[in-house]
Amino acid sequence: MNTPPLSPLRRLWARLALLLTVTVLLTAVLQITLLSVTALQLSRSLPPEAQRALRAVVSAELTTVRLPLARYFQPAVLTALTLSTLFSLLLAFTVARRFSRPLEDVAATARRIASGDLAARVSLAPRAAGAGVSELGRLICDVNSMAEQLQRAERERRFESAAVAHELRTPITALHARVDCLVDGVYPLTTQEVARLRAPLALLGRLAEDLQTLTVADAGELRLLRAHGDLAALVREVVTDFQPLAGARSLTLDTRLPLEAPVFLDAARARQVLHNLLDNALRYARTRVTVRLTWEGNWRLEVSDDGPGVTPGSEAQLFARFYRAEESRARHLGGSGLGLAVARALTEAHGGHIGAETGESGGLRVITRWPAGQQVHNQEC
Ligand SMILES: Nc1ncnc2c1ncn2[C@@H]1O[C@H](COP(=O)(O)OP(=O)(O)OP(=O)(O)O)[C@@H](O)[C@H]1O
Ligand SMILES: [Mg+2]
Repeated sequence: MNTPPLSPLRRLWARLALLLTVTVLLTAVLQITLLSVTALQLSRSLPPEAQRALRAVVSAELTTVRLPLARYFQPAVLTALTLSTLFSLLLAFTVARRFSRPLEDVAATARRIASGDLAARVSLAPRAAGAGVSELGRLICDVNSMAEQLQRAERERRFESAAVAHELRTPITALHARVDCLVDGVYPLTTQEVARLRAPLALLGRLAEDLQTLTVADAGELRLLRAHGDLAALVREVVTDFQPLAGARSLTLDTRLPLEAPVFLDAARARQVLHNLLDNALRYARTRVTVRLTWEGNWRLEVSDDGPGVTPGSEAQLFARFYRAEESRARHLGGSGLGLAVARALTEAHGGHIGAETGESGGLRVITRWPAGQQVHNQEC
């Protein structure tokens, strides 16, 4: 009959028990040996007459009491040996069990996590496992926090998949409806009507582009075509592009820029960051948007508006993917909640920083920081 092989943990437990038994028995034998050697050395240290007298006494004693002593000692020694062996076995198995049980729990939890049960946790509290703040306690805490992080990552992944599907559905539904109307003759098949397909198509294109940028940035593979340039000139260009939109919305687009701001960056990516910030600011501003560039050990570029701003304390959340401060208002204004997440990924890829705060007028102020130009010439990094 085939006996199933022992699991690694059972083997560990058996080995521990065996090791402990052997250790206890060896200690007993060592102690007996030490006692005998000590007694021998003590008797040798006596003067010769005393040694002779001692030997005479012992041999006389042995002759008279040998038989009763032997009778008395043999069962006593045997019983002591048996009891101490049993005791050491019991102690060894208990200690080994105490060590291996939390490990078995950890292994079982790891197996459940590996099979997809991300809610699994090592139920034994580190202290109950006798582990305290020892390595075992830390192992239990680490396994539980690993499971926690995996679960959080999985929740985020599901949320993002649902959000992507949701964002895709809006332009696709619009396209379907418009194409159906054109095919069914509800709208005339004119260039003007077909051109209306551009808006949902542009939205789809931007969504795909933003998602790709974020995926590549997540993988740490965002390639920047850095070159020496002038951030002030770049800001002027982008602001000029936005002036017609500001005019159409009766907004003042104000700039405060230095004559020159040398930087070493990927101009297209930096432009995209400023584009996303201005797109938001012009969407929410009531009367004015201000773009300011100053030197503070690095280039501080801020875009502020006099719109409704966001609830104090929620500024950091604005940079999360698919986050909209006020779902209904932001959706009505047409955003998919990726603009600031993309801006953050691009700024940080440059070694810069992005943050938001409430401005003096109560609107939002987004601040980006860009490292100054380095003495490195056009290169891809
Ligand atoms: N200037 C601002 N004033 C008030 N709220 C803002 C401002 N900028 C951003 N927000 C809030 O932050 C949210 C996230 O902004 P983000 O730019 O990431 O996404 P979006 O503008 O909604 O969509 P997208 O930029 O992808 O078109 C917005 O939905 C809005 O609620
Ligand atoms: Mg935006």
